[in-house]
Formats: sequence, C-alpha cells, structure tokens
Amino acid sequence: MSLRKKITDMTKAPLIDEWAQRREEIRFKTPPQNHHRLFHLLHPKQFDRTFLDQICELTTDIRTLAKTAEGQSHLQKLLAHKRAMLYFTQPSTRTFLSFNNACHILGVKTNEIRDSSTSSEIKGESLEDSIRTFSSYVDVIIMRTLVKGLAENAATLMDSISRPIPIINAGSGKDQHPTQALLDIYTLERSLTHRGGIDHKVIAMMGDLSRGRTARSLAYLMKNYQDVELIFIAPPGFTMGQDILEHLDQHEIRHTQTTKLAHVIADLDAIYVTRIQSEHDATDGSRDINLEDYTLSRSNINLMKNDAVIMHPLPRGPELSPDIDDDPRAKYWRQERNGMWMRAALLIRIFGAENMLYEIAR
Ligand code: CP
Repeated sequence: MSLRKKITDMTKAPLIDEWAQRREEIRFKTPPQNHHRLFHLLHPKQFDRTFLDQICELTTDIRTLAKTAEGQSHLQKLLAHKRAMLYFTQPSTRTFLSFNNACHILGVKTNEIRDSSTSSEIKGESLEDSIRTFSSYVDVIIMRTLVKGLAENAATLMDSISRPIPIINAGSGKDQHPTQALLDIYTLERSLTHRGGIDHKVIAMMGDLSRGRTARSLAYLMKNYQDVELIFIAPPGFTMGQDILEHLDQHEIRHTQTTKLAHVIADLDAIYVTRIQSEHDATDGSRDINLEDYTLSRSNINLMKNDAVIMHPLPRGPELSPDIDDDPRAKYWRQERNGMWMRAALLIRIFGAENMLYEIAR
C-alpha cells in the first residue's frame, strides 16, 4: 500500500455504513446526567475534560443524525421555538456562517447586525442599551467584537436583569475565541483518534501568537489533556502572552518557545498554524517579519511525521501554502466545517435540548 493511501486511510471520514452504525447506537443513548449547566459561553476557563469529551460526543451525534433527511428534519425541530441575535461588529466569514447555519440546522431563527453604523448605536445608543434591546427579542446573543471583555460585560448585564439570556463570545479582540478552541479540540481529537487522541502529544502553535486569539484559547484548553507538550513558534515580538505561559506553568503543561520551525518540525504530532494579525498593526508593525520562517509548504511538510495533523483557524495568509491543501495531513477545511457542528452542539447544550435530541433519534 502506498504511503499516501495509508495516511488517507487513517484520517478519512467514516464509511457510509459506519455512519449507519453510529445512527443505530444513538438510538440507545441517554444524555450524560452529571454535567454542569452551560449558560454564558465566554472563556475557555469554563471547560473541563468531562465537558470537552461530552461536547465532542454530542457534536459527532449531531453530524451523524444530519447524514439522513429524517435526521435533518428531527434536528430542525429541536430549537424551532428559539431566536438568536448574531451581533458581529468585527469582520468574520466562518464564525458568522457556521453559527448562522448551526442555528438553521436546529430550527433557530436568526437576526443579525454586522455593522454598528446600521444600528441605533449610530444615534448614540450605548452598547449596554443595545445588548439589552437585543435581549428583548431573542433567546441568545452571539457576539464578535474588537473589544476585549465586552462579552463578559454583556453577560454581567444579562445577569442583572429579570429576563437574562445567554451570551456567546464569538471572538473578542486579541483576547479569546472560545468556540473556535472547542472546534479545534474536536478536530484535533478526531484526527488523532487512531493514536489515542490529544493526550501525550507534541503540539506546535506557529505564527502571531501574541495577537492571535485562537491560539491563546486553544493553549488554554490544553490543561485538560494528559502529558501534552506545547511548542510555540513565533517571530520575536509576537510570542505567546505571559498570561497564557503562567497558566500553563500553573497546570504543569510543558512548553517551549522557538523561532525555528525547522528545529522542531520532525517531532510534531500536530501543528496549529496562524496568520500574522496585521489588522492590529497600528501599535506594533509586523511588516518586517520574514514569513518564510513561519510557513508550511510542500518544501517543508515532507519533514513532518506521516500522520501529523496540520490545522489553521483560517483565513490564511502566506503562512499556509495552498499547495499542501490536498495532503492527507491537512485538516483545516474539515476543521472549518466542524465549526458548524460544534456550534450546533453548543446551542443544544446551552438550551438543555440533549434529552430531546436522543428522544427524537429513537
Ligand atoms: N476562524 C475564524 O474565526 O474565522 P472568521 O474570522 O472568518 O470568523
């Protein structure tokens, strides 16, 4: 068997009859009983290993049901009585679309504001009043903003009013992107299933780690896995934040930093590549970075393990060459689609609809 075929076999999606078998298993499942309730989703510190394992399993169950027209029609009924506000005042393609389509899969009706100049904020309405106004009409607010801490503030506001609704942080400035980290965990865990999952793996994060909220959130979640070693590969001045390094130290997660991908590339079980966040360049310019040192392409992926996992939150810049897109180790297109299923699972969990999911599957 050729090496390429062998790698493909290890990482491919299940065959059609495997999905049918999973559907059969779902019919006899009961939802986990002892999990904590999820209301606001703001920061990766909210999640423990039990939650991560449960939400990954729920994500796979939703994907499994969605494989048939009957399953899709069941899913459509789950949250048909709910409405969502997608308040995305910072640009987004996949987080917006994956949440929007996750809502549609579950029957949730969606509203959106993608530019605050089209809302009454332009007339001087405060953000607090805007958020409170959204909550008058919908059952959940999913928000992406440039401002660190805004989702937390919105959650505090909700907790102080008589009809609080959940707030989901869909990306907050340079700080955190918790739902991205959850879909990244799902993709990593599934891509490494044949090797025992994330536990005991060497995982690199490369690129603009000081301003890349996806890597920050993913690094935060690594405390939930056993004996993981993290390698941060970043240009000087763009290294992982001290707050994350201290968090890793507190949880005794091994981590090292380097500027040389070539020195570590052969040791990696997975690499999480990120782009240079040049939209934040007003204060700290990134034009002088030699991107070649922080790029994956055909010329260096041959140095990686045959079953290594290549991920990227996307959108990409020059750091991830399209000429590796069809390499079986490249998981980023699957990763972005997984985001839709993970976000559907999160909505089901927030609204406590797991029981109904398994009931309708019977
Ligand atoms: N990964 C991610 O957050 O992509 P978008 O900015 O397109 O939503």
